[in-house]
Amino acid sequence: MDPRTPEEEKEELGDPVREIVAGTQLFQRFTLQKVLGRGGMSVVWLAHDDRLERLVALKLVPESACFDPAACEDLKRETHRSLPLMHANIVRIFDFIADEGMAAIPMEYVDGVPLSCARVQKRSNCFGVAEVVPWITSLCDALAYAHESAGLIHRGLGPANMMLNSRAHLKITDFGIASSLRESMSRGNVSVPGETMHYMSPQQMLGEDPSPADDIYALGATLYEMLSSKPPFYSGDVGFQVREVIAPPINQRRVTLGIAGDSIPRHWEETIASCLAKQPEQRPWSAAEVASRLRLGGTVCLTVAREIPKPVFQRYVKLGTLAACVAALVAAPFLYRHNLTSQRTAVLSALKNDSPAGYALETPRKKIPAPEIDDNPRLTEPQNATLQLATTPAGANFAIYPGPVASKTAPATAPLRSGAAPESVADLPPGRYTIFLHNQGWTDVRAEIALQPGETLPIDYTFPHGSVTITSIPEGAEIFSGEISLGHTPLTIDLPLGKQELVARHPDFPKKTETVTIESETPAKIAFQLRARSHSSPGKPKSAWEKFENSLKKVFSKKTPPKKQPNR
Ligand SMILES: Nc1ncnc2c1ncn2[C@@H]1O[C@H](COP(=O)(O)OP(=O)(O)OP(=O)(O)O)[C@@H](O)[C@H]1O
Ligand SMILES: [Mg+2]
Repeated sequence: MDPRTPEEEKEELGDPVREIVAGTQLFQRFTLQKVLGRGGMSVVWLAHDDRLERLVALKLVPESACFDPAACEDLKRETHRSLPLMHANIVRIFDFIADEGMAAIPMEYVDGVPLSCARVQKRSNCFGVAEVVPWITSLCDALAYAHESAGLIHRGLGPANMMLNSRAHLKITDFGIASSLRESMSRGNVSVPGETMHYMSPQQMLGEDPSPADDIYALGATLYEMLSSKPPFYSGDVGFQVREVIAPPINQRRVTLGIAGDSIPRHWEETIASCLAKQPEQRPWSAAEVASRLRLGGTVCLTVAREIPKPVFQRYVKLGTLAACVAALVAAPFLYRHNLTSQRTAVLSALKNDSPAGYALETPRKKIPAPEIDDNPRLTEPQNATLQLATTPAGANFAIYPGPVASKTAPATAPLRSGAAPESVADLPPGRYTIFLHNQGWTDVRAEIALQPGETLPIDYTFPHGSVTITSIPEGAEIFSGEISLGHTPLTIDLPLGKQELVARHPDFPKKTETVTIESETPAKIAFQLRARSHSSPGKPKSAWEKFENSLKKVFSKKTPPKKQPNR
């Protein structure tokens, strides 16, 4: 919490508090209710969005940034990059609003407290491993999503930017805006609070280009603090220590600080220490790898909440049939190659253009140990590991490459192993691997993992999807998406998120097209009302119903007297 007085703050920050009080309406839209908190650089209000009739957290941008057009423009651009982020554990940012002399960022309101506050409410000032597991699982999942699927880096991660809502679910706040706010402030020669340094990587301190490895460092520093009550370095010249000094093991820090309770398991100590490595290439390659090394729930669950729907679409029938799996398995190498060179490359290069400048996943890292592939299996067999790959939906094609692969696309070289999930991939020498998953219609996925000698690592990836129940009157219509048959009505299937155009075909009725929006949380419903053809199309055989209708017409036309011509 900020110990400065409002007067000191005014002096330092150029009056971020402003003369505004509860009840004030800002931007002709947001009515302020109460101050939720005050950070190093801004004040956050609980506000009512009078237009959309909902509560929001309204972050007021300090005046010093508002009056610097370049800083304001930078902040607006960075905020806009964060708008598409949609994940259950990331606070949604709704907009960037500015008028003369004032700017604000409305965002999702979290009815809870920052993790930093929850920690100090504990008697020992810190948590045990079991307590943090659900939060760290969410954190890794959200970071994997932001880094891999959305191409965004937080760069301001720390316990103050992680909130626990009233149901104790973790939500990361200020994704993508914390660092730009800080940068716009420091540009205006405003001092930036020192505590933000506690979670900054050495590279970030030196002003190097942003990289997901910065967030991995911050994740490690946050975990270190959650488990020991203090960040790795917290007194003296923190900047120097972050760059030059190795933090003591967490168990040692706990003893020094007189913290009782179960000791921290060795694999947690090692994983957190590796997150805090001075060189980025020595840190876990991804948040998913951190989750894997911490053995969170025993499964690396890379659940992505939402991705931008792709124009290309491939159906997936829930619990896909064995035949589909077998077909996918047979076709996997072809499909995979095909996709590497055609539409997949196009989609991914489009993503790349949108990525923030300096997004380090595009930059190969140095000196990363790849597994040594030994030609003599007898020597390595006992030490080899097994990867149990599963996807939802099932049947996604996978390709495994040794070592980290820096680009988002799979290399042109043949993978070490490939196939279709679910599959158990045995005999993998311990080391790091990159897995590419492809399921047509969904965004491709890349994940880096580390396999320990002899371990069996389950990896479960859920492509973002939603369920839809499709019915028709009459029943039995065949439903298509493009050229692909999804099955006959009534049916319930899972489809990629976003708008999907479906066509119902029935031999006795004209085809009908409907659009349905697939959402992850609310199952969609779509009912096709098939109507009889008004005129039978020339050359096409008549349906039973049309034949019946025609015969009725003939019968009645015989009995009905000819209509009288109207009198002129
Ligand atoms: N989305 C939100 N919902 C509810 N409260 C929030 C939200 N965002 C921030 N807050 C509250 O406002 C306080 C200040 O947030 P703010 O982001 O300005 O500062 P900070 O997180 O301490 O530092 P930083 O500037 O590094 O983000 C937080 O400590 C929290 O209590
Ligand atoms: Mg914050």
